[in-house]
Amino acid sequence: MTKRETTSMKVGILDSTLREGEQTPGVVFTIDQRVEIAKALSDIGVQMIEAGHPAVSSDIYEGIKRIMKLKREGIITSEIVGHSRAVKKDIEVAAELEVDRIAIFYGVSDIHLKAKHHVTREEALNIIAETISYARSHGVKVRFTAEDGSRTDLNYLIQVCKTARDSGADRVSIADTVGILYPTKTRELFSTLVREVPGLEFDIHAHNDLGLAVANALAAVEGGATIIHTTVNGLGERVGIVPLQVIAAALKYHFGIEVVKLNKLQQLASLIEKYSGIPMPPNYPITGDYAFIHKAGIHVAGVLNDPSTYEFMPPETFGRSRDYVIDKYTGKHALKDRFEKLGVKLSDIELDQVLAKIKSNPNVRFYRDVDLLEIAESVTGRVLKPKPPENIEALISVKCDSNVYTTAVTRRLAVIPGVKEVMEISGDYDVLVKVEAKDTNELNQIIENIRAVKGVNSTLTSLVLKKM
Ligand code: COA
Ligand code: ZN
Repeated sequence: MTKRETTSMKVGILDSTLREGEQTPGVVFTIDQRVEIAKALSDIGVQMIEAGHPAVSSDIYEGIKRIMKLKREGIITSEIVGHSRAVKKDIEVAAELEVDRIAIFYGVSDIHLKAKHHVTREEALNIIAETISYARSHGVKVRFTAEDGSRTDLNYLIQVCKTARDSGADRVSIADTVGILYPTKTRELFSTLVREVPGLEFDIHAHNDLGLAVANALAAVEGGATIIHTTVNGLGERVGIVPLQVIAAALKYHFGIEVVKLNKLQQLASLIEKYSGIPMPPNYPITGDYAFIHKAGIHVAGVLNDPSTYEFMPPETFGRSRDYVIDKYTGKHALKDRFEKLGVKLSDIELDQVLAKIKSNPNVRFYRDVDLLEIAESVTGRVLKPKPPENIEALISVKCDSNVYTTAVTRRLAVIPGVKEVMEISGDYDVLVKVEAKDTNELNQIIENIRAVKGVNSTLTSLVLKKM
């Protein structure tokens, strides 16, 4: 597979975890969480953050207010977008918050015009023109969203886009609201709009009802879309929209474009998993637990020789590492490697005997290192001593003094040698620090250094068992 032509390609992310993402059944974010999520999205480098529809409820309003304060202080740098119906009252609420951009949406398919809005096509154009002009009169940038755009008559959709442009919108989002699009059709739709309506930039808002959201978003980019709407972990109405982590990886691989900091995706995905209460399945692309875990003996043997046999992008790109599991699918190369890592020397015959035992228990899901050692001891009749792990990984939970800014403590912790990652968390502790040390002495030294940081009140250390 070759990389696609990218010379003239320009694309950015609008992340809507705070708006579309909160439309996932059962998901609600607190105001503090909204602010933390916005900061994390800005840190990872998303171009725009759709921060919510402020007319919906007071907490969303308050969340955007606090996010805008951080924007003014330069802590958040992404463009902040407020969602709004094509209703003056909604626009006023968003304008009051001084968001960078108001996104006005209106269902433009005949189904929506008839069943929701009860207006003719002509009347809808007037409403779109009036509300966009009204928002523009507040001095704010406007994106118009053609809701249900994918089921809208193409000629009418072109008229809608021209009306939006002529009323002052610089962007139009084409929403595949029901997730009905197909990639080749999507590319054609966007290239037609780009050609027919010059002077506008287009967003793709793709729902995932057929599992095609990522494919449709990539096709839209090929057709000329310059912003892709995402949510972290693909949250959103029904089955959600384009997952940020997946599209970011696909854009990197296929188009050579790095829209966000890829090595921070895992941390962000975990944060949203926690705050949304929606678990990521282990087989989720890029950030799922098994994204870089191999199993079949042939695969593991290949990966041990050269990881590119079964990986097209190294896990390190995403701040992750590879591993393999042992069960009845295991082969001798994997088993030999595992025992070598444990520091246990077995002859080829002994390895075959261990493998035979593993295969004779076909229902065991995972063999842990202790299980393997036990089998090896029973096969060899020797007492086997595994070597202690060379590198120690530990997670240190830090509680901050109540009168300090957690962010300030986080910044100080991040520069301590041995500290690999620092995350703000909520709960009994404020910050989680991931450290790596070559032995326990070095680990103790790092813990001392962490305790010595101004603003650190107490710490709790847990060791991470090293895998591969
Ligand atoms: N622009 C203008 N009006 C719109 C609209 C749009 N894009 N989309 C829907 N409407 C109208 C409908 O025609 C209906 O009007 P009606 O009351 O005259 O029939 C009304 O908005 C929606 O019905 P309902 O939600 O029951 O009305 P409500 O006034 O009680 O609540 C909200 C309106 C927006 C406050 C409420 O629906 C809400 O909190 N929604 C969450 C945000 C949301 O729905 N987002 C969708 C994003 S795609
Ligand atoms: Zn949507």
